[in-house]
This record gives sequence, C-alpha cells and structure tokens, in this order.
Amino acid sequence: MSSLDGEPGDDRSGRQDRDRHRRGSGLGADIARSLHAAGANVIIADRTVAGGEAVAAELGPRAWFCRTDIEQDDEIAACIAGAVAQFGTLDILVNNACLYADSGLASTRAEWLKTLNVNLVGTAIFTSLAAEKMTKPGGVIVNIGSVGGKVGAAGRALYPASKAAILQFTKNAAVSLAPDGIRVLSVSPAWTWSPALENMAGTIEHADAVGGRIHPIGRVGRGQDVGNAVVFAVSPMAGFITGVDIPVDGGFTIMGPTRAVPRGLGSQTLKTDSRRHLVDDRALKRQETVVRLLRGEDRQKRVLDRGLDPDSVSIIARPQNGTTASE
Ligand SMILES: NC(=O)c1ccc[n+]([C@@H]2O[C@H](COP(=O)([O-])OP(=O)(O)OC[C@H]3O[C@@H](n4cnc5c(N)ncnc54)[C@H](O)[C@@H]3O)[C@@H](O)[C@H]2O)c1
Repeated sequence: MSSLDGEPGDDRSGRQDRDRHRRGSGLGADIARSLHAAGANVIIADRTVAGGEAVAAELGPRAWFCRTDIEQDDEIAACIAGAVAQFGTLDILVNNACLYADSGLASTRAEWLKTLNVNLVGTAIFTSLAAEKMTKPGGVIVNIGSVGGKVGAAGRALYPASKAAILQFTKNAAVSLAPDGIRVLSVSPAWTWSPALENMAGTIEHADAVGGRIHPIGRVGRGQDVGNAVVFAVSPMAGFITGVDIPVDGGFTIMGPTRAVPRGLGSQTLKTDSRRHLVDDRALKRQETVVRLLRGEDRQKRVLDRGLDPDSVSIIARPQNGTTASE
C-alpha cells in the first residue's frame, strides 16, 4: 500500500477481521498486557474466543478469558459475576471493544444501531452493571475513545459519532458515580499499531513514515502507549482525575490547520520540512501546487482578498486540478 488514506479501521471491505483474532492482537490485548504487568488480575471479555484465549494463555494464571458479547446484557452480567467469583473483587473496567465498519452518510438505520449498540450502548451497560459490583471507593472505569470522535473525516459517520458519544458518556458517568468513589475516564488514541492499521499500512515502518507526518511526535502510537495511559488512569496517582479524556495521540489533535508548514510557504523550506510534517505525498503535491499558485507579487493581495490569514492559505486554496487542498 502506497499511502494511508483515512484512519485505522477505515476499511469497508472487512479485510481487517481476517485472521487477526487468532493472534490475540489489538489494543485490548496490549491494555491487558500492561495492566497485568502492573500487577492486576485480568479478565479478557471478547465475543471472539481464539484471540481472547490466546492472550489469557500468554499472560498465565492471573488472567482469564470470558466469552462475552457486549450486545447481550445477560452475557455482560455473567462476565462481571465471573470476575468477582474468580478474583474476589472488581476494581477496574476498560471498555475497549468496538466495530469500525462505517458506510458514512449512506449508512442504514440497521448499521447505525449495530455500531452504536456495540461502541456506545455496550460500554454504557457494562459500566452500569460493573459499577454495581465494583470496589467503592476506589473503582475505576476507562472508556477507550478515539481521535476519530474529535475531528471530522469524510466518508465516515458511525464510528466517529459513537466515539464522540463515548467522551460525553464518560463525563456523565463520572459525575453519577463520583459519590460512590468510582472514577470514570476516557483514553483516546490516535493511529496506533494494531491489526486495523496493519491492514492499511502493511508494515509498522510505513505506518510511522506516513502517519508520523500527522502526529507531531513523528510516529504512530504503540499499544503500549495506550496501555501505559490506562495503567496511569487506574492508579492512585490519578486519584483526583475523573470525567476527562487522556489523549494518547502524539499531538494529533493539537496540530492546527497549517500543520507544521513553515511561515512564508517558500517551496525550498517546504520541501525540507515536509519529510516530517506534511500529511502524505499527495498532500505535499497539493501544498506545492498552492505555493506555485500563490507565489508572486499578487500573493498577499489574493490571499487577503479572500479574507484569509496569509499563513493559512495552504488549507483553502484551490489547486489546478480543481480539488480543494484541505488537510
Ligand atoms: N487501532 C487504532 O489505531 C485505534 C485508534 C483510535 C482508537 N482506537 C480504539 O481502540 C479500541 C481497540 O481498537 P483496535 O484497533 O484494537 O480494534 P480491534 O477491532 O482490533 O478490536 C476490537 C475488539 O472488539 C471486539 N468486539 C467487537 N464487537 C464485540 C461485541 N459485540 N462483544 C464483545 N467484543 C466485541 C472484537 O472481537 C475485537 O477483539 C477501540 O475502542 C478503538 O475505537 C483504536
């Protein structure tokens, strides 16, 4: 694959589901590994048996797999009861499961309900039922959000809307459960090396090369980055933090519309800096087109005529091919 268009999980062909569960991969597995390494007993709840069992077997005696479909309330309740029976207390819940399938604005009602049922309602019901059994005070619930729930993306609707709702739900649950001494936070990754990203990028090197241009830290995330944030969120060190989101996004969401294109838009400078900062090769070509269009004595006038900040021209100018250069 030569470029990364979209974001992890933006694979409407469904290829991402192929084989990966057999490997016990995905961010849930990495979060489980991080919590386990920090000393927690871990229960892996997933509707897919092979991957969950593989991670539980890898972790050993302090880990247990419980097949759970989070669209089914009775299965959620059974998982929680099993956790308490297995380990005595329930101190931490991480709501990680998700569906990525997304037909954007063309999504049917059935598709909307399916995605929201897993990504949002499953989280809400798990939170509600777990909170009843959770250690009070001291329980912590972490909901996995996404940068996708914070910014717009053409062609997608279900997944981003569900992730935005997760962030809001986290606030409401945090306020509701604070009197019980239960904290609720969200952790929002950006592009993170996972089966979803592997399907788009092929290799981690390619993912870092392309994804690194839109993550100021210069690479995509690793599962351990997310796992570390979850370990912090559930630890006593975060004891006065609730209801907020912890971005684990390498700066993805703080980058402004000009991204890191230097002032002046000189083509030489642009080429020098583009290796690290521009979105992808096509974005670089669009930027260069913009520079050509706007270079010359009338640059300032043309920019100002459009009511624009001269340093922001790269995001709105119209290149020669007629498509809008918007990153
Ligand atoms: N991978 C990324 O780059 C990235 C970026 C931002 C946010 N995230 C978030 O991280 C989390 C994990 O992402 P991932 O890329 O590892 O996804 P993934 O698809 O690899 O894993 C999702 C898991 O959810 C499970 N699941 C789906 N429906 C279920 C159901 N009804 N009941 C029980 N389990 C169910 C799947 O079996 C799978 O194991 C998600 O919440 C996702 O939104 C991931």
